[in-house]
Amino acid sequence: MEKTLFIVKPDGVRRGLVGQVLQRIEQRGFQLERLEYRSAVSSELIDQHYEQLLDKAFYPAIRAFMTSGPLVVGVISGPKVIECWRTMMGATLPEEALPGTIRADFAHAASPGGTIENIVHGSDSAASAAREIKLWFGE
Ligand code: CDP
Ligand code: MG
Repeated sequence: MEKTLFIVKPDGVRRGLVGQVLQRIEQRGFQLERLEYRSAVSSELIDQHYEQLLDKAFYPAIRAFMTSGPLVVGVISGPKVIECWRTMMGATLPEEALPGTIRADFAHAASPGGTIENIVHGSDSAASAAREIKLWFGE
């Protein structure tokens, strides 16, 4: 069965949204394969996770955001789960996300030029899912 990696980012944990994110995953019928609360995530891990953003001028702020507090990371499985979870998350910018998506329903609009605090992460392809699951869970 197809698998993807998801993260409830530090803003989602701080705002007490872990339960509501997990509820949406369960309501959609996806299986939880792995689920971990990580109280201290290293900069090195975040750099590897976002390797395609490393050379962007704004990347240091993303690293600071992703290491700013505990996060919850997991693996879910189900038919077309990679694309479906991306749809459930919504667009990267909360102000562009469609109503009913996690980012539209919970995230606040980004401040101009600021880091986009958008509650959740999801792998964007089968190759990314395999890479990210190995990175976070070593399998
Ligand atoms: O998370 P998603 O795949 O939708 O977007 P991305 O382009 O892969 O960027 C990863 C994450 O970096 C975003 O979800 C934002 O949290 C952050 N980001 C940002 O703060 N500012 C940008 N201009 C681009 C991304
Ligand atoms: Mg991405």
